[in-house]
Amino acid sequence: MEILTTDTPLLEWTGDALAIGLFEDAVELTGELATLDEKLAGSIKELITEEEFKGKQNSSVVTRVGSNSPVRKIILVGLGKTEALKLETLRRGAASIARLAKKQKCKTLGISLPIWNNDATQTAQALAEGVQLALYQDNRFKSEPEDKGPQVERVDLLGLGGQEAAISRANQIASGVFLARQLVAAPANSVTPITMADTATQIASEHGLQIEILEQEDCEKLGMGAFLGVAKASELPPKFIHLTYKPEGTPKRKLAIIGKGLTFDSGGLNIKGAGSGIETMKIDMGGAAATLGAAKAISQLKPDVEVHFISAVTENMISGRAMHPGDILTASNGKTIEVNNTDAEGRLTLADALVFAEKLGVDAVVDLATLTGACVIALGDDIAGLFSPDDALAGQLEKAAQTSGEKIWRLPMEEKYFEGLKSGIADMKNTGPRPGGSITAALFLKQFVKETPWAHLDIAGPVWSDKENGYNGSGATGFGVRTLVNWVLGDS
Ligand code: BES
Ligand code: MN
Ligand code: ZN
Repeated sequence: MEILTTDTPLLEWTGDALAIGLFEDAVELTGELATLDEKLAGSIKELITEEEFKGKQNSSVVTRVGSNSPVRKIILVGLGKTEALKLETLRRGAASIARLAKKQKCKTLGISLPIWNNDATQTAQALAEGVQLALYQDNRFKSEPEDKGPQVERVDLLGLGGQEAAISRANQIASGVFLARQLVAAPANSVTPITMADTATQIASEHGLQIEILEQEDCEKLGMGAFLGVAKASELPPKFIHLTYKPEGTPKRKLAIIGKGLTFDSGGLNIKGAGSGIETMKIDMGGAAATLGAAKAISQLKPDVEVHFISAVTENMISGRAMHPGDILTASNGKTIEVNNTDAEGRLTLADALVFAEKLGVDAVVDLATLTGACVIALGDDIAGLFSPDDALAGQLEKAAQTSGEKIWRLPMEEKYFEGLKSGIADMKNTGPRPGGSITAALFLKQFVKETPWAHLDIAGPVWSDKENGYNGSGATGFGVRTLVNWVLGDS
């Protein structure tokens, strides 16, 4: 599918479907729209009346127009109140238009939506993102593709001529989101620590990144006892991935992104019971998937920033070699951990990844992890938890998320709750009491960062969506990639 920008006037555009955005406080047809309606023998007005279209946000209607007219279908999409227009409204509007066009078997689609905040560049990027993300399909595991009908082949963004650069940025970002979605959606017999390392190596060779894969012996030498404790029961070798993007010339900043990379989480000997969702635990590498997706996007966008992409990848399994509940592990910073619950494994793998990242001398570290069910209880399926002792970094991430439309919400790092992780025998336990479970998880991680500004995103909820939601279909969302990209690009 190709997205193009054009200055072809609304009245002259021809193709299968023409989509128009209308505000709630201005559904009456004036100017160009009135002329278009005349040209189409009043079908737009008819559509509005018959469908009682009010221009409400997330509403859309479609009609067929006369067979000898230059367009076959007219799509109207509601944009809510003029005053309240957000970039996200346009992104979602473009997404529902694209979906509707596909359902209506349209191959060519023209989209005419207003420009947000006089910013044609951001508008074009958001519209292209909405279209791309909504039309994503994953037929890898079907013997026959599910829908064989006509696909949308060409999308023209009207009134946005000259915004080619914004479109290619959107395409590059979408390629990262797609990678993350594919990695998360693939089951644990398809995406393993080995294939994750292969994927990272492939990104490196395709997009000119440096790659370092630390094998088990390398991790042993670095004293990564927490990560290796988790990896012990698996038949598959652990892989510690370190990808580096270096810009030409001196970088403005040096950043690290870490993703939790559990290709499957059985819980270990504290095995997940019936009703725990064990069969969904292929998603437990969603942080690593977002990290690799961001690497793919960022290496194409080429910002003036050095970025390290890190993941300690393994499975959490059971076997005669599995760590026992109660075992004491020593992480690479020398801290000892009493593993009172083997199902709190993500934080153990992240501990060594955080220590590794800090040693790189970066200006900031952000980790993403499907870390706790408690975070899903607190914030639901659509919102990630943000934890950071650093207000400036937290602010940067909130801004980046705001622009991307991905929802994050800051939760407190209440130091007092660390008491719940006190151990009688080691420096700390890996699990505290059930209340505030996502906070104690974040406080645990904090023990492995000395002074580098650091933030943690708990993405256990939004990594997956059971139903279609905006530009996300049901399934893996690729959550985090777009926020990470915005964060790395900063204000540029
Ligand atoms: N991977 C899970 C968290 C999770 C839960 C992700 C639901 C996505 C959806 C994590 O490793 C885990 O098992 N956490 C435990 C922690 C507990 C043992 C302290 C949890 O949340 O129950
Ligand atoms: Mn677990
Ligand atoms: Zn887990």
